[in-house]
Amino acid sequence: FGSSSASSTDFLRCLSSSIPSNLFVTQSSPSFTSILVSSIKNPRFFTPSTVRPLCIVTPTNASDVQSTVLCGRRHGVRIRVRSGGHDYEGLSYRSVSPGEVFAVVDLANLRSVRVNSAQATAWVDSGATVGELYHAVAKGSNGRLAFPAGLCPTIGVGGHFSGGGFGLLQRKYGIAVDHVINAVLVDAGGRLLDKNAMGRDVFWAIRGGGGESFGIVLSWQVKLVPVPPKVTAFIVPVTVDHGAVDILTKWQVVAPALPDDVFVRVLLMGRTASFQGLYLGTCEALLPVMRSRFPELGMNRTHCREVSWVESVLYVYVGSGDLIPEGDILNRTIPLDGFYKATSDYVRQPISRDVWAEIFTWLAKPDPGLMILDPYGANIGGVPESATPFPHRAGVLYNIQYMNFWGAGDDEGPHIRWIRDLYAFMTPYVSKNPREAYFNYRDLDLGRNVVVGNVSSYEAGKVWGEKYFKGNYKRLALAKGKIDPEDYFRNEQSVPPLVPRR
Ligand code: FDA
Repeated sequence: FGSSSASSTDFLRCLSSSIPSNLFVTQSSPSFTSILVSSIKNPRFFTPSTVRPLCIVTPTNASDVQSTVLCGRRHGVRIRVRSGGHDYEGLSYRSVSPGEVFAVVDLANLRSVRVNSAQATAWVDSGATVGELYHAVAKGSNGRLAFPAGLCPTIGVGGHFSGGGFGLLQRKYGIAVDHVINAVLVDAGGRLLDKNAMGRDVFWAIRGGGGESFGIVLSWQVKLVPVPPKVTAFIVPVTVDHGAVDILTKWQVVAPALPDDVFVRVLLMGRTASFQGLYLGTCEALLPVMRSRFPELGMNRTHCREVSWVESVLYVYVGSGDLIPEGDILNRTIPLDGFYKATSDYVRQPISRDVWAEIFTWLAKPDPGLMILDPYGANIGGVPESATPFPHRAGVLYNIQYMNFWGAGDDEGPHIRWIRDLYAFMTPYVSKNPREAYFNYRDLDLGRNVVVGNVSSYEAGKVWGEKYFKGNYKRLALAKGKIDPEDYFRNEQSVPPLVPRR
């Protein structure tokens, strides 16, 4: 599967006879590179040695996708699907194996959002960004409705929903997959399946277990949530010299226990802890809560910005203190800071003050990265671990994301070493058995699939699978065994099929 040039030629011939020729480009096409890079967010995976797809298909309807899968199956060419292209390891458009022949199905043209404000639901195509979704929901409901998903407006709905999807509304409303009520999937047989047709286990699996293991999700129906016309966004930066270590130590127990309509995350960079957040109400109502529950932060009126919910997303994401025009949420090409490596942890016991003081010395080393701490508790923690594949629920205080950025031409070695060394240093202070990680913050250092007999090994996959999914890993593998037992849809961290012996 996937390595003979004969199969490539036959695959391309099959595509030519099944879908319009303007819907796919091969490596020799003049527009191949521009389409390939169009949504690459991590240029680490756009180098001369990166293993690239044989061709990129840009379908405009479901039947283009079905035909592509059927051609792929028939001629032994695997498919990787890309929605927003934000995968931290680039798995939606590159392979780690030099010998792998694969095609990319890029869903950028399938991005409509249809809002039903009377029913507070929407259908959103996978190729839409969350910014496009947020904009359509706010517009379609006169600012009364919102959707609880990620903060970065350019992330693609397809990958983001497939892996969980959390953001500023998570304490009030949980995460994206908690609100998915239907979906349309093309499976490895080229069939178009809705929730009922794909069955309970597969519908459960695609809501957080990584859609790419089960097929290509074309669209999602979601429940929308109410928000007030004005919310309060805030940013309170505190330096180490002004007590950041003590305030952070306290934040760990306060933030997960605040009322569910208050969200306070922390961005740690250099010697500064920046407390950033959202309150679903006015500044006047927020301040007494913060003064009684978290007086150490010293929050006052000057820290507040009363804005629409869409503006609050941009305000906190950009973090400059400036208000960004609402329409900018539609910009699909907000630049990132360059090349990066990231990973994640979950914290279930507060970390001591002394350890926080030491963590700040890591942030002051040469070539340091940053850390983002997102508080859980309230409604994200109230959902049972097995309700969706995303298992990081009751008892989690917060998620840590570690990131390190560098520029073109810089040596990546010290940056990647910083993250790996800090991750090792953090071992005693974070969740254990398994050490949990967030699937959407993909990290191949956590492990990769081992293929045995042309199928990814269930046993070998436990190394990374139980970190992302805990006890849900086995149920995911059984769902994969039902819908794709031959493991057609696979990548370095796709769920392996588990087929019970009869
Ligand atoms: P991409 O297209 O690269 O896909 C990611 C994975 O999903 C790939 O394996 C791909 O094959 C698969 N996939 C994509 N579309 C699919 C489909 N239609 N059907 C089946 N499989 C599909 N997360 C978060 O929870 N909250 C946040 O606030 C942020 N913020 C954030 C900021 C920035 C700058 C980045 C780079 C990332 C985040 N993330 C995040 C992480 C983000 O949720 C994660 O990278 C998502 O997988 C991105 O989805 P895309 O569709 O953009 O990626």
